[in-house]
This record gives sequence, C-alpha cells and structure tokens, in this order.
Amino acid sequence: MALNAELLRTSLALVVEKQPEITPRFYEILFDRYPQARPLFGRNSAQTQQRMLQDAIVAVVDHVEDAAWLKEQLHAMGARHKGYQVAPEMFPWVGECLLATLAEIAGESWTPEIEAAWKDAYGAITGLMLEGYRS
Ligand code: HEM
Repeated sequence: MALNAELLRTSLALVVEKQPEITPRFYEILFDRYPQARPLFGRNSAQTQQRMLQDAIVAVVDHVEDAAWLKEQLHAMGARHKGYQVAPEMFPWVGECLLATLAEIAGESWTPEIEAAWKDAYGAITGLMLEGYRS
C-alpha cells in the first residue's frame, strides 16, 4: 500500500498520548450514529472488544509497510467478520466513526493531510478485509 506510514504513525501516537484508550469513544460514536450496529456486538465484554479493536488498529499501523502481513491478517480478519453478521455496507460506518474519534481526540492537531492519510488507509484496510470476507 502506498500509504503515508509516517503520518499515520505520528498522528496515532499523538492521539494515544492525549487519550490512551481511544476505542470507548469510538463505540459511543458508532452506536450513536448507527444504533443498528449495536446488536451485532456482545460476544465479548465491551472492555475486551475495545481492547481488541485498539490492538488491531495499532498492529495495522505498525505493519503498514508490510504488504504480506497486511494481506494475510486482514484477509483472515475480514473472513471472521462474516461470522459476526457484519455486512460489507457497514464498513464505511466504522471508517467514518473511527476518523471522527481520532479527529475529536487530536483536536487542533488534526489536519486535512492527516485526514486524507487515514481515509486512504481505511479504504485499503476495507479492501483487504472484504477480499477475505468474500473468499
Ligand atoms: C477496519 C475495520 C475493522 C477492524 C480493524 C475491526 C477489528 C475487529 C477486531 C480486532 C475484532 C475482535 C475479533 C477478531 O479479531 O476477529 C472485531 C470483532 C467484531 N467486529 Fe470488527 N473490525 C472492523 C470493522 C468492523 C465493521 C465494519 C463492523 C460492523 C459494524 C464490525 C463489527 C464487529 C463485530 C460485531 C465483532 C464481534 C464482537 C463481539 O461480538 O463482541 N467490525 N473487529
């Protein structure tokens, strides 16, 4: 992926420094904007789910230049999401709410360049997850 790895890393570091746990706020925004997503969750406690999502975001950003890792991991993760009754149409919901969360926490440090880097990254992640989902 020709993604702006440096910008993704520095912006994520900045966000996590301001607020170590980013995913509780993410789920608040997601369930507020898309209440229909809420019933899909519940296999794990909210806390476990929040931790798993944050670890996944950190791992993807760590491996953003490792195409083989991304392909393998994101294909597998996409396939698992089929089992969670997630529909492909829901991926933009999560992208929108993740970006909204990061922008909110970053505050004035958020820039159009950072926004564009995350949009591109989320698009690429979704593409790989959906390849796994559909296979
Ligand atoms: C970049 C996109 C996404 C990432 C990185 C991600 C990450 C994760 C991770 C790490 C898990 C834990 C279990 C596992 O690894 O299989 C998980 C579970 C789950 N995800 Fe996602 N996910 C993404 C997109 C979505 C979308 C679009 C939805 C739909 C609203 C969704 C709904 C769920 C559900 C329902 C579970 C099961 C959790 C439970 O039952 O408690 N995810 N996701």
